[in-house]
Amino acid sequence: MRLCKTINEMRSFIKAVRAEGKIVGLVPTMGYLHQGHMSLVREAKSRCDVVVVSIFVNPTQFGPNEDYHSYPRDLQKDAALVAEAGVDVIFAPEVAEMYPAGFSSYVEVTGVSECLCGASRPGHFRGVATVVSKLFHIVQPDLAFFGQKDFQQVLVIKRMVADLNMTVQIVEVPIVREADGLAMSSRNVYLSPEERQAALVLSRSLKLAQELVAQGERDIATLRDRVCQEINKETLANIDYVEIRSLPNLQTIDKLEGQALLALAVRFGKTRLIDNTILEA
Ligand code: PAJ
Repeated sequence: MRLCKTINEMRSFIKAVRAEGKIVGLVPTMGYLHQGHMSLVREAKSRCDVVVVSIFVNPTQFGPNEDYHSYPRDLQKDAALVAEAGVDVIFAPEVAEMYPAGFSSYVEVTGVSECLCGASRPGHFRGVATVVSKLFHIVQPDLAFFGQKDFQQVLVIKRMVADLNMTVQIVEVPIVREADGLAMSSRNVYLSPEERQAALVLSRSLKLAQELVAQGERDIATLRDRVCQEINKETLANIDYVEIRSLPNLQTIDKLEGQALLALAVRFGKTRLIDNTILEA
């Protein structure tokens, strides 16, 4: 497996494999890899000849008071994991390589990026769309793999790809959970044992919503209230948002018809976790 630290190295590798007519897959990540990331890698391996995993903690998607500096990093461990999975290249640039002095162009996806995490993390999706767009230009993948753990992120990227006539195909991969239901996340390492236990309320509350829908509940306000009540039973949980919105445009709705996204962001101490599920009438 090769480790590319510069855009030039990455580009010359890609030029060579493209000349051989190989299908290139990209898995963009911020590292500190877990089995959620690895399921994207496995999907990429099964569909592409060459798999690139990018590992870059992207400063432009973090707010000024967020966890950019403390975000967990372990390139050595990540490299061992992806090498074992048969990944061909890691692209792990320094910040100055991606954002040299004078950098001043950003990609802004309106609409779908403005609610949910876009509302509670201003500028977040601008940073995501910008870095993902740069990665697409550098790696020129045929396919790129994203997890439904960040459901809104997938919608934002798909919108960007369609609007800016990018040729990459976006592949969505389902959420991978721990055995007890907690969605895997690099940020789970921040949780104290008590918070880790309390965080189970997220998957429990999503399951409750699924059960209510299965029993025939269609009123969005009722479903949302029941999810909030369930989360609030947990004293360590502080709700950032709980919302049910239409797909794929994330409009507000009153009644569940067809599919909708139930998305939530909840703080446990200093750690903000997100989770979601698709509700279907
Ligand atoms: P990161 O949080 O490292 O996630 C990288 C990819 O792994 C994302 O597509 C995310 O949805 C997916 N992923 C994370 N946890 C998952 C889980 N439990 N199950 C399934 N997929 C999971 O998302 C980012 O990085 C960044 O915003 C990035 C796209 C790399 C741009 O900087």
